[in-house]
Amino acid sequence: MATLGVNIDHVATVRQARRTVEPDPVWAAALAELGGADVITVHLREDRRHIQDRDVRVLKQTVQVKLNLEMAAEQSITDFALEILPQQATLVPEKRQEVTTEGGLDVVGNLDRVRRCVDQLHQKGIVVSLFIDPSEKQIEATKALGCAAIELHTGRYADAISPSEQDQELAQLRRAGEFARQCGLHLHFGHGLTYRNVQPVAAIPGAEELNIGHSIVARAVMVGFTQAVREMRELIVAASHT
Ligand code: PXP
Repeated sequence: MATLGVNIDHVATVRQARRTVEPDPVWAAALAELGGADVITVHLREDRRHIQDRDVRVLKQTVQVKLNLEMAAEQSITDFALEILPQQATLVPEKRQEVTTEGGLDVVGNLDRVRRCVDQLHQKGIVVSLFIDPSEKQIEATKALGCAAIELHTGRYADAISPSEQDQELAQLRRAGEFARQCGLHLHFGHGLTYRNVQPVAAIPGAEELNIGHSIVARAVMVGFTQAVREMRELIVAASHT
């Protein structure tokens, strides 16, 4: 059975909308663990648009399950990862203007840069996973760098507009997953997975870890909203009696 990595970036997105202290992704991580998360995932972006350095430092102290740090293959973030020592680092491509991670890392096209980063992480015993599109060339390059795992980008599957297109994308993920397993790589999936589309991916043979963020945070807002409003209302009612 695949394990669940809960990406809590968008808890920090809400906090950063006001540059305040709430909601704290550290609390969200603890609650995610209570809910059964096997992995806590955060993406420390170079522009620090959501997760901050402090979050990762505190999470390293508090998270009891695996901490997975998503990061660009850039030296400044690599230095930070070498200081924090998460159990796992997932290397992702990063562009300043993108709303979210678009497409997988082009390992083949950036071999030297990715190798420099991977080698430093390996020297500190950090498990490295590369977030890539479901392509044999990218999988072979990941294997050649000595990485333990790949995370296959499920965005095209998630964005498919017709059932037949979705079936094609799923078949591609399955084929790439099979090839990765033959290469001896651990198999992760992520991006755009939701309560509606997760099950076919979770059922792919050999799927070990699913990283899911936006959909879980979106649902948490909704299932917790009634309670949050009720509590605020109770405070106001109580104040009117004083
Ligand atoms: N996996 C990776 C490598 C990602 O970059 C992201 C987005 O930060 C996710 C998983 C989670 O994607 P989503 O928020 O769409 O669930």
